[in-house]
Amino acid sequence: MTSRLTTTGIERAAGLLRAGELVAFPTETVYGLGADASNDRAVAAIFAAKGRPQFNPLIIHVLKAEHAASLVRVDERAALLMQRFWPGPLSLVLRRAPQAKVSLLASAGLDTLALRVPAHPLAQELLRVASVPIAAPSANRSGRVSPTTAEHVLSELDGTIAAVIDGGPCRIGIESTVLDVSSLKPLLLRPGGVSLELLEAVIGPIEVAAENPTSPRSPGMLASHYAPSLPLRLRATDVEAAEALLAFGGDAPSGARKTLWLSRRGDVDEAAANLFAMLRALDRPEFSAIAVMSIPERGLGRAINDRLKRAAER
Ligand code: TXA
Ligand code: MG
Repeated sequence: MTSRLTTTGIERAAGLLRAGELVAFPTETVYGLGADASNDRAVAAIFAAKGRPQFNPLIIHVLKAEHAASLVRVDERAALLMQRFWPGPLSLVLRRAPQAKVSLLASAGLDTLALRVPAHPLAQELLRVASVPIAAPSANRSGRVSPTTAEHVLSELDGTIAAVIDGGPCRIGIESTVLDVSSLKPLLLRPGGVSLELLEAVIGPIEVAAENPTSPRSPGMLASHYAPSLPLRLRATDVEAAEALLAFGGDAPSGARKTLWLSRRGDVDEAAANLFAMLRALDRPEFSAIAVMSIPERGLGRAINDRLKRAAER
């Protein structure tokens, strides 16, 4: 059985992690499936629980930017990004330090590590009490939509993990931005909770990784990902009678069997926070498909469109 813990269960959760068990926990982006990053067997258990077809590298969560120095090489640009965006939804890919006490499996044998300092108070509390770096992918079965509530986590992983810490719905609702700053040219591997615009304002122009699932610099960026069971129809301007509609902005087409608004006022941040929960809510056999209206390609809209494109792929 998976224990459902709250604020008062942090000591217990930390103990489970230190004993090599898997604990799901809330972050400001999505729920993570955490393991002690230094424990090979615990990290292997993550892949087993998710049913991942391959070993994708995982994001390593630490309590503070100061803890990064023992794990990766931190240059001036990385230090600036950490100072500006941590704690928060930015994962930085950096060269792994030779002495880094992180399972090689967690980074899939790469000579880099993706690090992030989560802003969620329960994630911070867990990191502080466990006092180990925590490897954590999103707490969903491989290929499914990322969880933004404890219920989402339990619906897929109940019985296969030791515990979930329930912190309610995630504030941002979309995964962290993954930025590779391990070499001269910064490369955006995954759009996410920190927009490209904000990052470029701090470090200048950033190249956006090509849609190439076999590219060695962006492992894990499989074309088909985040998939609901129903087909997704993107950039919908009308709707069929049997379809569910994921609407954005004031004038949604009428006639859908069910309509949910990502954001009525056309706010991309609000839409990001609602995206995964609404995709789950509409992914039901009584609908023929989920029609999704266009989302503007600005701010978090870029990350939303990236996830929608993957969800529509099959
Ligand atoms: O918001 C998030 O990032 C959530 C929460 C739990 O922190 N985590 C998350 O993890 O989304 P996951 O495993 O679902 O996605 C990790 C992404 C993958 O696209 C993976 O390929 C990339 O980060 N990644 C991790 N380590 C990397 C590395 N060393 N080099 C390149 N990409 C890396
Ligand atoms: Mg994921």
